[in-house]
Amino acid sequence: VKVYIPLDMAAVAMGADKLAAAVAKEAAARGENIEIVRNGSRGMLWLEPLIEVETPAGRVGYGPAKVADVASLFDAGFLTGGAHRLAIGKVDDHPWMKRQTRVTFARCGVIDPFSIEEYQAHGGGAGLRRAFEIGPAATIEEVTKSGLRGRGGAGFPTGIKWKTVADAPADRRYVVVNADEGDSGTFADRMIMEGDPLSLIEGMIICGYAINGSKGFVYLRSEYPQAAVIFERAIEVARKAGWLGPNVLGSGFAFDIELRIGAGAYVCGEETSLLESLEGKRGIVRAKPPLPAHVGFFGKPTVVNNVLSMATAPMILEKGSQHYADLGVGRSRGTMPLQIAGNVKYGGLCEVPFGLTLGEIVNDIGGGTKTGRPVRAVQCGGPLGAYLPVSLFDTIFDYEAFAAKDSLIGHGGLVVFDDTVDMSWMARFGMEFCAIESCGKCTPCRIGSTRGVETIDKIRGGVDVDANIELLKDLCHTMKFGSLCALGGFAPYPVESALRHFPEDFRKPALEAAE
Ligand code: NAI
Ligand code: SF4
Repeated sequence: VKVYIPLDMAAVAMGADKLAAAVAKEAAARGENIEIVRNGSRGMLWLEPLIEVETPAGRVGYGPAKVADVASLFDAGFLTGGAHRLAIGKVDDHPWMKRQTRVTFARCGVIDPFSIEEYQAHGGGAGLRRAFEIGPAATIEEVTKSGLRGRGGAGFPTGIKWKTVADAPADRRYVVVNADEGDSGTFADRMIMEGDPLSLIEGMIICGYAINGSKGFVYLRSEYPQAAVIFERAIEVARKAGWLGPNVLGSGFAFDIELRIGAGAYVCGEETSLLESLEGKRGIVRAKPPLPAHVGFFGKPTVVNNVLSMATAPMILEKGSQHYADLGVGRSRGTMPLQIAGNVKYGGLCEVPFGLTLGEIVNDIGGGTKTGRPVRAVQCGGPLGAYLPVSLFDTIFDYEAFAAKDSLIGHGGLVVFDDTVDMSWMARFGMEFCAIESCGKCTPCRIGSTRGVETIDKIRGGVDVDANIELLKDLCHTMKFGSLCALGGFAPYPVESALRHFPEDFRKPALEAAE
């Protein structure tokens, strides 16, 4: 009997390793013949560790399971899908799974991440084979026609980026994957690298082939040690299977991948400082232009793509651009793996086509707050994203609709807060975050963020509140339009949105002082 216990870090943090050992020991003691497969996570993080058992009726789940539950699971006959208080039934029939359209995450949690046979049995490799059949130019055309936009947050069309690099005259070109997933509440890149790393590898080979580049790098944040170990092992699996090396699958095309680990700076998720860091230098932002697509890694044309963009390319090639383009709304085509976190009942990753409203995401998928108190704010797009109030819950989850509300969807992270949150404190956090993470290259960000914290402190302390709010707005304007990169340029979003939607939270100290 196959028993699946995730190796995903979220599950491991909740005791999956100990659970796997306990299940193996109990099975041996009872003379049960089982095979434990360490899979990725299905994204239902409130159920981790989720044990799945393969039965004739399909895979059934039990979670969240602890070591103390193991004996009772065996007693209940979980190996044949027996009833137990942790049983969730067939995993694919769970409402959280049923409402999803899994494209990028189709295999995540389903297969053994190190089995190239299982990967291929679930469609893996078909995209690469098709790319080899249709050639580099048509491959880029397919990615362009799919409407896929950069899932790191900026939403630039992926196919156009690939074409820019392919067309840039050079003796060599590079593929760089940005896995420096620094946004609060985001974990999609990690989940792919831990649960379906071969899809990222396949995407990188396709990209390398399309742009005529033979070397790829993955820049991974140091805070993801589990992803590093898993991805290194997956590279070895791919190399042994002939997917990487001087003659990829007998095509004559040469490609290899190296994993590089960052050193903990948020700004190294910005593509130019990432490239500096990759070149062995301190991670400081470079001025753009020139774009990395023209002058990138060691001065050569370089595709810098987020993990999700790259890992989606194989499916687009496999199923055709139209299949992907048919999903979504407006100019936001395809799906987005929403990552729902914070004070929320059902936290995790849910991949859906663009077009749901923010309210549907928070209330229907996330189930509202974990505390049971009313939702007050949702921060979308990481620590530099806007705080949206419940009155904007009709906003459609799509790049343009969010931009129209002075907000961003970013990398798809949503952090939920209940009505006990102090929004002036959260605004202060945005500025403080920027002050700590600023690379220091430009003045509006380096100095502005520190002055911003001081000004918010004055407002919170009831000092010249009106004048200081005006000063803060002025400072936000300067940072927004005067900063060299998105770190300083986006830090005003949480501050301005908190001021706009929750003005009462900036008057409290003054009122309290007056009382
Ligand atoms: P950007 O808009 O300057 O560029 C987006 C991408 O398109 C870059 O790779 C750029 O080189 C490329 N590009 C732009 N014009 C091009 C052209 N004509 N031809 C070819 N390529 C072109 O945005 P930036 O500064 O790279 O990223 C900002 C975004 O990063 C924000 O929207 C934010 O959501 C996101 N972000 C994501 C984080 C994460 O953890 N994933 C953390 C912080 C921010
Ligand atoms: Fe560096 Fe901040 Fe300027 Fe970006 S905005 S270049 S992080 S100082």
